[in-house]
Formats: sequence, structure tokens, C-alpha cells
Amino acid sequence: MKLIAISGSLRKASFNTRLANLIADTAPGDVTVDVTTLHGIPLYNADDEAESGIPEPVESLRGQIKAADGLILVTPEYNAAMPGVFKNALDWLTRPGEEMKPTFSRPTALAGATPGAWGTAYSQAGSLVNLRQMGCLLFPDHLRISKAGDRFDGEKADDKLVEQVDGWLTGFVDFVTTNN
Ligand code: FNR
Repeated sequence: MKLIAISGSLRKASFNTRLANLIADTAPGDVTVDVTTLHGIPLYNADDEAESGIPEPVESLRGQIKAADGLILVTPEYNAAMPGVFKNALDWLTRPGEEMKPTFSRPTALAGATPGAWGTAYSQAGSLVNLRQMGCLLFPDHLRISKAGDRFDGEKADDKLVEQVDGWLTGFVDFVTTNN
């Protein structure tokens, strides 16, 4: 099985990118998780799309998603929502309209980490309406990591976090298997 985990943070020391890497490191032998970020994706502008079509970084990301059996959106929470960087990338990926279904109608999971107390719960809850609109087949168990600053020592996660990610990923792998 092949999964893709997209981190919605551009920050070098991002907790969410670290969480995406941890998901990849935790995967069982028969599951590959490709981790990617959204660097290089321009701001959506319909004039640019009309003049030049879909930018190469968007097509490249779409290709990675289509090659995967399941999609994991690892997103920070900014002001109780998904950061604009992530929403912008998702908007590009829904263009042109006929590409939305083949890109997104696949098993999709939400994961997120924050130094705060609520584990990106507001961002995840708020994005449900967007993901439903895009036709994602959503895994109902969302991975929420609170107090991320206490859970990672550099790239190394504490044992409890490894266990939490392992249990969650087992559930998502089952969901992907059932729905492919
Ligand atoms: C935040 N942060 C934040 N955290 C949270 O739990 N709920 C929130 O609503 C917000 N709002 C918010 C707005 C803006 C503009 C910034 C820059 C930050 C803090 C955020 O969770 C923190 O910066 C994380 O470290 C971001 O994720 P990465 O970059 O570590 O992956």
C-alpha cells in the first residue's frame, strides 16, 4: 500500500512535518508513506490558470496523490482553521473541475499537531465541510496532537506519541484497505 502525507506547514522545524515523518517512520513494512510539503505552490489566481494552465508543482503533487491509495492531510491550525497555504493548495488541486473527483475521491485522513491544548480540533472540524465538498472519503478518526513542544525532542517523538500514531495508522490502513 502506498500513502501520501502532505504537511501544511512551510516552517523548517514544523511540528506537522515532524508528525508526517513520524507517520512514515511508523508505517508497517508493506506500507510506504511519502511525505511532502507545499513549497513552490503559487497563490491561486484564475487569470494565471486561464493564461498558463495548472502550475507544474500542483500537477506534480496531483500525480503523487493519484499514485497513492490513501491521502493524509497533516495540517496546522491557524486561527481555528486550516492555514491559507493548505487551503490554497487544495483549491489548486480541485482545478480544472474534472480533476477534482479523480484527485480526491480516495480514503483521506486528517492529522495535526499544535503546541496548544486542543490538537488542531477546530481546524479539523472546520475543514470537514471543505473536504466533503471535494468528495474526500474521510477516515472518521482524526489524529490530534496537543502540546507538541513536549512530545518531540528534535525529530524524536516520545514513546506515548509513537504508540498513539501507530494505533491510529493501523486504523487508517484498515480503512484504506476496505475502501480501495
Ligand atoms: C497559530 N497557532 C495556533 N495554534 C492553535 O492551536 N490554534 C490556533 O488557532 C492557532 N492560531 C495561529 C495563528 C497563526 C497566524 C500562527 C502563526 C500560529 C500556533 C500554531 O499551532 C503553531 O505556530 C504551530 O507550531 C504551527 O505548526 P507547525 O509550523 O509547527 O507545523
